Amino acid sequence: KKIIVLISGNGSNLQALIDSCKNNQITGADIVQVISSKPNVYGLERAQKAQIPTHVHSLKEYKAAGKTRKDFDHDLADHIQKLKPDLIVLAGWMLILGPDFVSKFEGKLINLHPSLPGDIIGAHAIDRAYEEAKAGKRTETGIMVHYVIAEVDEGKPIASRKVPILENDSLEALEERIHRAEHELLPEATRMVLEGTAPSFK
Ligand code: GRF
Repeated sequence: KKIIVLISGNGSNLQALIDSCKNNQITGADIVQVISSKPNVYGLERAQKAQIPTHVHSLKEYKAAGKTRKDFDHDLADHIQKLKPDLIVLAGWMLILGPDFVSKFEGKLINLHPSLPGDIIGAHAIDRAYEEAKAGKRTETGIMVHYVIAEVDEGKPIASRKVPILENDSLEALEERIHRAEHELLPEATRMVLEGTAPSFK
């Protein structure tokens, strides 16, 4: 089974996937390419160290060339379709992918998001949960892997897990606890989708 992983930064979740494919936790799966929305991010080094081909698809470059976001999405879709993946994993991919892109990969495009289903939408979910905890509004948050649909962070969950927020947590302590949980959940959810034991897409 061929997996493509999309990243934008550190790639600790990419690393968890690389390790789980290597130790055969996800049987018969190979990451055939890592695509980053930014050059020179550590996630690209992780891929290179694991001898996984990399590709940079930079929105900044598209804009500098006077191209549109639609061009960016369209060319990314073309690039991915040529590789004929069984699964595309957004692991810290920080750009919203438009409905034309999403519709081409429905059911085989999944995203890791650091909140429980239907709880916090958007790019600052950990910060938001932390602030609400400090304001006494919550004592837990969580993470999920979900199918990607046009509405951001709202596709059907495949797997999710609660993560407690402790009384004297620093933001860093919460982030660390969340990322540790993500490094377990993402390979697990990926395995479920590839093995056909995940909830159906629709
Ligand atoms: C993760 O917390 C993921 O849930 C969010 O972005 C972060 C990526 O971290 N979408 P990394 O690049 O995998 O370390």
